[in-house]
Amino acid sequence: MTDISTNSQPGHGENTPAKLGYSPVADIPHRPRVADTDPKAARRAERQVASMFLLSMLFVLLFFVAYIAIDKSANVYIPVFGVVGAMNITLGFTMGAAIFLIGTGAIQWAKKLMPDVEVVQERHDLSSPTEAKDEAAANYERGKEESGFARFKVIRRTLIGAMVLFPIPLVVMLRDLWVSPPGDPSPSELLTTTLWADGIRVVTDATYLPIRPEDIPVGGLVSAAPADLMEVQELAGNLNARGKAAIILIRMDPSEIVSQQGDGWDIQGILAYSKICTHVGCPIALYEQRTHHLLCPCHQSTFDLADSGHVVFGPAARRMPQLPIGVDAEGYIVAKAPFAEPVGPSFWERG
Ligand code: FES
Repeated sequence: MTDISTNSQPGHGENTPAKLGYSPVADIPHRPRVADTDPKAARRAERQVASMFLLSMLFVLLFFVAYIAIDKSANVYIPVFGVVGAMNITLGFTMGAAIFLIGTGAIQWAKKLMPDVEVVQERHDLSSPTEAKDEAAANYERGKEESGFARFKVIRRTLIGAMVLFPIPLVVMLRDLWVSPPGDPSPSELLTTTLWADGIRVVTDATYLPIRPEDIPVGGLVSAAPADLMEVQELAGNLNARGKAAIILIRMDPSEIVSQQGDGWDIQGILAYSKICTHVGCPIALYEQRTHHLLCPCHQSTFDLADSGHVVFGPAARRMPQLPIGVDAEGYIVAKAPFAEPVGPSFWERG
């Protein structure tokens, strides 16, 4: 059984399969590439490959600049995707471009400058006799030689430069795992600070219309947001604000409420809770009205909304934070105070 494969050999036409110990494929005419016959084309290809590796280094440097210079809360509008975090998109683009250019450079190197000969290679049994291992080692050494790693000095140096710089962004991002420096808000403070404050109206998160208590039937659930969400998003460009402020309103018979996180935090049996699971932050709206249980679809944490949002099952370690609500002069539901505890996941230190 035979297998036809392309093997490696330096370009410029000075080598033949026979010289290398391969059997040429008899009935496939070989068409040399431009770089095999034209030294100028070969040098041009070399410059192209080196340019890609250099550009890769440039994108890694831009990654650094973006990480340091871009405000974490800044947003940009991108058609199709909408409003996205400026830092996220820039870090993703620069890192993606750096990887892409290393890959493209390597492919171009292989396609244009590495050997281009068709050979027939006999397939062997899967067992590896000593001779085969020796041959594999010899092939490896020959491959190293043939790849031109030693000969194409500029490519070698730029590739090494690109590969050395490439892992650095990963190290830089570890900085976000550090404990907050003194003076900076702790994760717990950041998660406790949301758009909710005394008097902020509650609106549905689909239509942004204000809600009256009579709009919610007993057993009903409404996903909601603060009325100033859009304004804050546009002004401060803060997508995190939306996630942190997401709440659900559920209504039950007041006599069914066992306990709340604060006295009188409901309005006519309507309770407001954060919508973000305290395990690792999935949004939750699976409510079972008979038991008053809220079920997280991610890892099945279950919270009893009639009993202060306590965890009754699953991996969540913290109850679901409750938002105190009332009605304003026009009869619409409003927050009576900010959240009293951090919303969202609890897997990091909270200071
Ligand atoms: S995120 Fe809700 S249970 Fe894991």
